Amino acid sequence: ERGTVMSRFALAIDQGTTSTRAVIFDRESNVIAMDQREHQQIYPQPGWVEHDPMEIRERTQQVVRTALERAGIGGGDIAAVGITNQRETSVVWNRHTGQPYRNAIVWQDTRTDQLCAQLERDGYGPMFRERTGLPISTYFSGPKIRWLLESDPEIRAAAEKGDALFGNIDTWLIWWLTGGPNGGAHVTDVSNASRTMLMNLQTLDWDDELLRALQIPRQMLPAIRSSSDPNAYGYTVADGPLGARVPVCGDLGDQQAALVGQAGLKPGMAKNTYGTGCFVLLNTGTEIVPSKYGLLTTVAYRFGDGPCVYALEGSIAITGALVQWLRDNLGLISQSAEVEELARSVEDNGGIYFVPFFSGAFAPYWRADARGVIVGLTRFVNRGHVARAALEATAYQTRDVVDAMVADSGIELAELRVDGGMVQNELLMQFQADILGVPVIRPVVTETTSLGAAYAAGLAVGYWANEQEIAQYWKEARRWNPQMGAEQRDALYRGWKKAVERSFGWVEL
Ligand code: G3P
Repeated sequence: ERGTVMSRFALAIDQGTTSTRAVIFDRESNVIAMDQREHQQIYPQPGWVEHDPMEIRERTQQVVRTALERAGIGGGDIAAVGITNQRETSVVWNRHTGQPYRNAIVWQDTRTDQLCAQLERDGYGPMFRERTGLPISTYFSGPKIRWLLESDPEIRAAAEKGDALFGNIDTWLIWWLTGGPNGGAHVTDVSNASRTMLMNLQTLDWDDELLRALQIPRQMLPAIRSSSDPNAYGYTVADGPLGARVPVCGDLGDQQAALVGQAGLKPGMAKNTYGTGCFVLLNTGTEIVPSKYGLLTTVAYRFGDGPCVYALEGSIAITGALVQWLRDNLGLISQSAEVEELARSVEDNGGIYFVPFFSGAFAPYWRADARGVIVGLTRFVNRGHVARAALEATAYQTRDVVDAMVADSGIELAELRVDGGMVQNELLMQFQADILGVPVIRPVVTETTSLGAAYAAGLAVGYWANEQEIAQYWKEARRWNPQMGAEQRDALYRGWKKAVERSFGWVEL
């Protein structure tokens, strides 16, 4: 049977904000082997966040090789490769040499805040929102590409000539995996493209008027494909990390991949991923639901020639990143996992709130002029309270976007499916259920992002038959039920809302 699709495995490459993983799955969605490596976070000045694209490429090669080794298989045993990635992060590179012109500008980077404010003043807001489903924000790729083009006349000239290519991280990696300067595929999928602020949600194509508004030449943009397609992305090259020609046939933004990995394939299903940030996605089916309450309208996925499926998204920039910040910038803990113990050393938040708007406020506020604040400090407050307030901030921010989602969709949330690193934190998960007032549920396989990418790839080649089969593999592992009384919940949440107000208007734009 060796060599037939069914005897083989699916490989997912998940290139995230802080690390890259390769995960190998079997047909029952079990993790067979994986590897993960961090890459450097580069902060050249306040508000700037960069990654080295070449380092990301190397980490990717390393984790793929190690995962294959650990599984005891070769690239030829892989039936399909799926890519998933931190979204919006932007790279521009030379198509002949493969050299990036500059470091990648990461989604959290706020260097384009003045540019965004100017676009808003020029009256472009409604057009972008209507066509792309997104508010004008430093978060998305469009302003980042514009900044890169403006930063150096050589880059703009190369882009006009067709020598400079733009890609989000999916595009960057697929281009290299499929040959790089020797004929690599310059492609992306609808879910990633929907985060650029350049794609029209109706036509699923780059929108010329939006390109003009941002002065971005169309020829530097990748071709937009379905998220799952046997012919869309080409084959890995034999001298690459897989050491074999294998179809790359799935591509999804990481949050959309997590929705798929959670089997959130029906309208009304939602998930929250607790990573660097938190991202709540609600599947709205084939309907493009505009948001009145500060959410994003985005593409969830498109499988093959099927209809495009959309989502409402509540994007939160800083959640797990705040724990990292306590560790790396304050030295309050030496490992991320210690935050729970420290937070448990106190009974409650001691009257303080930590609003971590380090990249401005994302959903549902979209205030580029906000910055982080800690409010309510007294001499009573100690490091335990700070840790506790930092964890609670994740739950409050999730409540903010879930409330917006209920208001926008009219659907009351019955439960919330969760995944990501922070779901190991019992204190946080219980507090999350308490502050939402609905059960929070974790599945058996918490590698949902990778799993979603593997599903997208596997569906394309018939490794998995259809969506029904996928839904069958989702199993509940753990559930947190709300225990807090309504009065306490409301009082705490009111405090949060007051604290949020204090964070606005810090930066003048
Ligand atoms: O939109 C940003 C998001 O895709 C980043 O996710 O998990 O890499 O922090 P993550």
